[in-house]
Amino acid sequence: MTNLDATRLRTLLGGFSRAKVAILGDIMLDRYLWGAVNRISQEAPVPIVEVERESARFGAAANVAENVASLGARAVLVGIVGDDDAGREVLSLLTGRGVDVDSVVTEPGRSTTTKLRVIARSQQVVRADSEVTSDIEGDVETRILDGLRRAVADSDVLIVSDYGKGVVTRTTIAAAISMARDAGKMICVDPKESHFASYVGVTAITPNEKEAGTAVGVTITDENTLLSVGWKLQKQLGAECVAVTRGEQGMSLFMSDGELVHLPTVAREVFDVTGAGDTVVSVLAVALAVGASMEEAAIIANHAAGLVIREVGTVSVGPAAIERSFKDAGEGERVG
Ligand SMILES: Nc1ncnc2c1ncn2[C@@H]1O[C@H](COP(=O)(O)OP(=O)(O)O)[C@@H](O)[C@H]1O
Ligand SMILES: [Mg+2]
Repeated sequence: MTNLDATRLRTLLGGFSRAKVAILGDIMLDRYLWGAVNRISQEAPVPIVEVERESARFGAAANVAENVASLGARAVLVGIVGDDDAGREVLSLLTGRGVDVDSVVTEPGRSTTTKLRVIARSQQVVRADSEVTSDIEGDVETRILDGLRRAVADSDVLIVSDYGKGVVTRTTIAAAISMARDAGKMICVDPKESHFASYVGVTAITPNEKEAGTAVGVTITDENTLLSVGWKLQKQLGAECVAVTRGEQGMSLFMSDGELVHLPTVAREVFDVTGAGDTVVSVLAVALAVGASMEEAAIIANHAAGLVIREVGTVSVGPAAIERSFKDAGEGERVG
């Protein structure tokens, strides 16, 4: 088990601001309407929510890019939005967080992937999704590949954030892997079940248990199935590390040298697990970019995920918060 002492941790975290990360993936916007229900509509048997406030939050690759920027690293995002209000809003919010969106392509006629949740007294009343999930093609694909080439050339590591909304296709994955390999850059993938066969040759991949199980056709129910799925995937993909994220069980690393590492979660309270997987891949990539070993990077990523979910609402996890969290856990000297 790797030893990550306080000095080493501080050195790695201190380097985060020098990391340059490209992100290819599906951009989403999560919108929320918060209000109260006092009566039922006369038009239909549905509650009327009197809206008190609105909020928005990044989803998928947009959330990954924001996470990378919060860590102090440079984030260059490659993806698509529609020519609509949600698209303009997400781009302006991302720019405000310091994410480089010059390589985000606006596709006329496509709606920006948006999930609108209406919440009354902490209860979700309804969710309305706007999205087009068809694979990108033609001119949009060409522009994405051009943007990807520039982004990869200018980064230490590439993250692929695949939410199955059309940006990550067999073509773009193949191009991403070959560009990263040719340039000697690492590639970290947060996968969707459907594309596993295309991920051969990536540096690290972070499926959750369900995604990993689906990929090899085995449901993970216990230690044995976990091990068989993890090793099968690792061999199939040839990845340096298959990091299976396991919710409240933390994370298990299947390494190319045959080592198996279990990292228990550091979260003691859980308020909101949304986006924990995005945090894992973001921190993993940034840490690798600054020279962390795979295991060191995963330890820090697992810690950051635990930190995100024990806070209420959206939190920016920066290097200082991560360092504090290690200290609070009493893991200054020895971790893991
Ligand atoms: N309920 C939970 N309790 C404690 N830790 C959690 C919980 N859910 C997620 N985590 C932490 O977040 C990481 C990623 O979450 P997970 O739900 O496995 O991924 P994904 O969001 O991709 O499905 C886990 O490896 C773990 O460290
Ligand atoms: Mg995930």
